[in-house]
Amino acid sequence: MGPRTTGRWLLCAAFMVALCQGQQDWMQCSSTCRCKWVSGKKTAECIKQNLTQVPGDLSPEIQNLDLTGNRISHLTHDVFYRVNLVNLHKLVLRECGIESIHTNAFNGLKIVIEIDLSGNNIRNLHPGTFYETQRLRVLLLNQNRLRILENGLFFNLTFLQKVTLSENRLERIEEKTFRNLPDFASLALDGNNFSTLQLQSFENLPKLGSLELRNNPWNCNCHLKRFRDWTIERKLYTKPTTCQQPPSMAGKMWDEVTSDEFACRPKIITIGPATKIEMGRGDVTLSCRATGIPRPQLSWAHRTRILDNVSKRPNSDRGYILSASHDWLNLTIFDATPSDKGDYICHAKSPGGDAEKNVTLAIVGDALGSRDNFISLPLAIGLGVTALCLLIVTIVLCVCYCRRRRTRHDEKGLEAASLEHHGLGEQEKSLITTINPVVKPPRRYEAPSVTSHGTEMTELNRTLLDNDSVFGQYTAYITKQCAARC
Ligand SMILES: *[C@@H]1O[C@H](CO)[C@@H](O)[C@H](O)[C@H]1NC(C)=O
Ligand SMILES: *[C@@H]1O[C@H](CO)[C@@H](O)[C@H](O)[C@H]1NC(C)=O
Ligand SMILES: *[C@@H]1O[C@H](CO)[C@@H](O)[C@H](O)[C@H]1NC(C)=O
Ligand SMILES: *[C@@H]1O[C@H](CO)[C@@H](O)[C@H](O)[C@H]1NC(C)=O
Ligand SMILES: *[C@@H]1O[C@H](CO)[C@@H](O)[C@H](O)[C@H]1NC(C)=O
Ligand SMILES: *[C@@H]1O[C@H](CO)[C@@H](O)[C@H](O)[C@H]1NC(C)=O
Repeated sequence: MGPRTTGRWLLCAAFMVALCQGQQDWMQCSSTCRCKWVSGKKTAECIKQNLTQVPGDLSPEIQNLDLTGNRISHLTHDVFYRVNLVNLHKLVLRECGIESIHTNAFNGLKIVIEIDLSGNNIRNLHPGTFYETQRLRVLLLNQNRLRILENGLFFNLTFLQKVTLSENRLERIEEKTFRNLPDFASLALDGNNFSTLQLQSFENLPKLGSLELRNNPWNCNCHLKRFRDWTIERKLYTKPTTCQQPPSMAGKMWDEVTSDEFACRPKIITIGPATKIEMGRGDVTLSCRATGIPRPQLSWAHRTRILDNVSKRPNSDRGYILSASHDWLNLTIFDATPSDKGDYICHAKSPGGDAEKNVTLAIVGDALGSRDNFISLPLAIGLGVTALCLLIVTIVLCVCYCRRRRTRHDEKGLEAASLEHHGLGEQEKSLITTINPVVKPPRRYEAPSVTSHGTEMTELNRTLLDNDSVFGQYTAYITKQCAARC
């Protein structure tokens, strides 16, 4: 053994001693923790030690810290920085009963790669909580009580790859929760309280390849449609992710139903105008506008009849024109007549359901209107028959009178004829009275009433009276003519 070899050995021994001394430094754990090498990392295990705070006597060289099963309800600001644990790569805080995390709790953990916060009672995470953990790759938050993920929570974490949020109470993810995360690949949201999600929350995650969505009360309506389409398109959908709402979709998997079935009940947003037109005042257009996803089918109906371009109209040889564009369906009625009045119903239908609203078309001054036709027609027939009877009676009387007069004329001479003229006048008068014995009531003019019904009645009365007087005059005229001819 030469002096050179001895020298080498001495050097080596010195190095070993130095190494051992270094080892001892970080391995001198507090009594509650066990410090050792695990997978080449300086690890401190402080599992189920009834710790109420992060131990203060660990070496700054510790890389992995496992605090599973302790009682640390609050992570206060700079909680690791203050005890100098700034070289942590992996931090495990499972089942520690953590309720709150201060925005700055993880400050100083500039090289931490993985944080496990599963099985706690965390209700809220402030945006900024991970502001200093720029090297974070994996964040486990399963089994907490989170309800909302706020804008900016995962912002600019260049290395973030995986976040698990299974079995929380999440209902909502704000639009800018995940932003500028170029490596983000895996997100677990199963076992939460999501009924819907916006696609905007997941845009700009180019590497996202795994998205767990099972066991949520998904409401498969139009609000979920875009997100659903996107998950299927990006092949992120995994069975069995099922719908819970609406009832018609309950239990169905997202890829079992078509995109169009992710629908909402349509809404009629405009209908009108409620129109009151005067008779013979031309064309009426009723418009109806409805929205919905998918776009609903619109139709117009009048008196339970669905109208189209070839529908016949009562009392008119012209039909309807229906014109559709975008959300509108407009119905044009040319030369509206009283038979066109009434409620027009606009109906919107889509896979999401139905909606309908109606609008009333009123025609002013429609005495012989559709409904009144049924009243005035028998009346008109009655009047006609009466007139005919009167005419027959008139003719019969006229003929009889003429014959009698001729007979008398034959019996008496010219002398008698001159006297007779006066008597004839008497007889003529009595004849007129016989024919038209009714004392004509004074003609009643009523002020037009406000309601359309009142107006109709007034009109009706007037017509009746007019007819009566016309017939009276006509009878008298006939009698006079009769007398003159005889
Ligand atoms: C923690 O506390 C429980 C009771 O509070 C006790 O049974 C248990 O032994 C304690 N554990 C340690 C490691 O001190
Ligand atoms: C995002 O993080 C990088 C470092 O990873 C930093 O250089 C950059 O300034 C950050 N951007 C913002 C807007 O904070
Ligand atoms: C789930 O969310 C609904 C509202 O969307 C709420 O009424 C319900 O209480 C929530 N359930 C749980 C377990 O938090
Ligand atoms: C009805 O006719 C009009 C023009 O005549 C046309 O523009 C419209 O598309 C037709 N509507 C239907 C439902 O056929
Ligand atoms: C229907 O009527 C509405 C309101 O008058 C109008 O804005 C719309 O452009 C009309 N649409 C068609 C297709 O005529
Ligand atoms: C029209 O709507 C009113 C309420 O807005 C309703 O009372 C009426 O029954 C409707 N008419 C028809 C024919 O549906």
